[in-house]
Amino acid sequence: MSKRVMRSDYMHWAKNQPPARFDLGSSEVPHYKLDRLPITIADLELDGASRHRYLPLRQAIGDKYGVAPDHVVTADGTSMANFLALATLITPGDEVLIEHPVYEPLLAAAGFLGARVKRFVRSPDEGFRLDPDAVAQALTPATRLVIITNLHNPSGAYADEATLREVGELAARVGARVLVDEVYLDSAFDRSSRSAIHLGDHFICTSSLTKVYGLSGLRCGWIFAAPPLAEAMWRLNELFGVAQAHPAERLSCIAFERLSEVVAETPALLARNRGLYNGFLESRDDLAGTPMTDGITTFPRWRGGDVEPLRALLRADYDTSVVPGRWFEMPDRFRLGVGSPTERLEEGLARLGAALDRLP
Ligand SMILES: Cc1ncc(COP(=O)(O)O)c(C=O)c1O
Repeated sequence: MSKRVMRSDYMHWAKNQPPARFDLGSSEVPHYKLDRLPITIADLELDGASRHRYLPLRQAIGDKYGVAPDHVVTADGTSMANFLALATLITPGDEVLIEHPVYEPLLAAAGFLGARVKRFVRSPDEGFRLDPDAVAQALTPATRLVIITNLHNPSGAYADEATLREVGELAARVGARVLVDEVYLDSAFDRSSRSAIHLGDHFICTSSLTKVYGLSGLRCGWIFAAPPLAEAMWRLNELFGVAQAHPAERLSCIAFERLSEVVAETPALLARNRGLYNGFLESRDDLAGTPMTDGITTFPRWRGGDVEPLRALLRADYDTSVVPGRWFEMPDRFRLGVGSPTERLEEGLARLGAALDRLP
């Protein structure tokens, strides 16, 4: 039996990178400054009595997504939401089907929990779209869970409701559930899409206020699940973190009241920045990729091969960072985020171009 891996190597790497002035590796929009919210100290409370499964926050999350509070479990970020959901859903030895390429902590968590991991491919030749046929081919009668991200990390590919429904039906046929990490979904501003939780009780969805709202410091994450599963997750969490920091829960409620203000500038920022990136991509013979239509991240291929020399040169001479594709099991690609202020992205892309020009 292979040794259990008790860590996320990608997360360790990501959290220990020195800051770069032109951070093309980030997958978030700029941080929202707390002083833009009308908060007084009296709005915050430490009182533990009010925080158990704190209803006002579950209500606020549920109201935004059209989900009843009994379907909402809160957690520290999508990170803990994913782990808590997976720990509830996976029994050691279960067969779990995970997309390729994938956000590594999902793979690491499933491995840590003793899953027998199988993969299905999101093909780069098809813009990494979620293909129900690829899921169907990899499903077996033993599959208990399918794990996908929507939007897809790293590529930003969007899966529509019909596709998700089809994947859900395929999974349900063998008695499997589908976990959809939706942390980037709200950045598909032109799609007016719903959480996949609305497609049936065999879906479990996770998200947070991190990526699209610039509020990662709040660690306001959640899981949507049918009430019996949600109850099991709450009960399991009594073994883990028990409850979130209450001032963060209060701040999260205030953020939800003002969410349209928090996000107001983001659709235009991302649309502008995606356009800038698309122009850059078109101008480069040494890059291959899909033009961005949604989301914050994209995953182009460098025709020069393994991107490690590119990553190193960007760091050494250009104060610029990208996420090397090896973290997504595709070393000749890199993940690039377009969430920075536009002038910063513009300069970052110019530096990326200059570095590419110097490499064979
Ligand atoms: C797909 C995906 N899920 C979850 C997370 C973690 O999000 P959070 O900050 O809400 O824990 C990330 C962050 O990169 C991510 O890309």
